[in-house]
Amino acid sequence: MEFYETVRKRRSIRAYLKKPIPDDIFRRIMDAARLAPSAKNLQPWKFIVIRDNSRKREIARICKERTWIADASVIIAGVATNPDYRMGSGQPSSQIDLAIALTHITLAAASESLGTCWIGSFDLPAAKKYLAIPDEYILVGFMTLGYPAESPPQKDRKSLEEIIVSEQWHE
Ligand SMILES: Cc1cc2nc3c(=O)[nH]c(=O)nc-3n(C[C@H](O)[C@H](O)[C@H](O)COP(=O)(O)O)c2cc1C
Repeated sequence: MEFYETVRKRRSIRAYLKKPIPDDIFRRIMDAARLAPSAKNLQPWKFIVIRDNSRKREIARICKERTWIADASVIIAGVATNPDYRMGSGQPSSQIDLAIALTHITLAAASESLGTCWIGSFDLPAAKKYLAIPDEYILVGFMTLGYPAESPPQKDRKSLEEIIVSEQWHE
């Protein structure tokens, strides 16, 4: 799929078919995450891939009982492994790096006609414990991945005029 078409067609998908993802397609999608840019090329990420049905149900429970999450073929947990690193600006980068890599996953998936949904609503301590993530690392978010069982309409977005300002900040 052409890039801008992929960007336009991507949606957050919250209903999935019970159809497995071929391994070559899954690897292509994860390779898009692997190739994402990161501050200082530290690649401060690890992606926990959850396929087991009972584990997916438990993740859905931890994600505030959103049962549809367990219907996705795969749930990916994005973990930032270098939370202390700060860019030259002084701002921490690892959660930004994870967001970029997860965004690559959303777009690669869309170009393969697969759906994703970023999940930022979950019980953080319970999720880290269940997935055995070391205390010092950050569980940035979950992402569902699977064949869509819905085609939601495009949601509203602000116009370019509302989000671009010239030369210096103004409202
Ligand atoms: C950081 C982040 C966190 C999100 N958390 C959730 C979530 O917990 N549950 C959910 O159903 N969707 C979640 N979403 C999906 C957004 O609701 C969705 O991207 C937004 O409404 C725009 O819709 P679209 O992705 O279909 O264009 C999240 C998206 C982002 C980027």
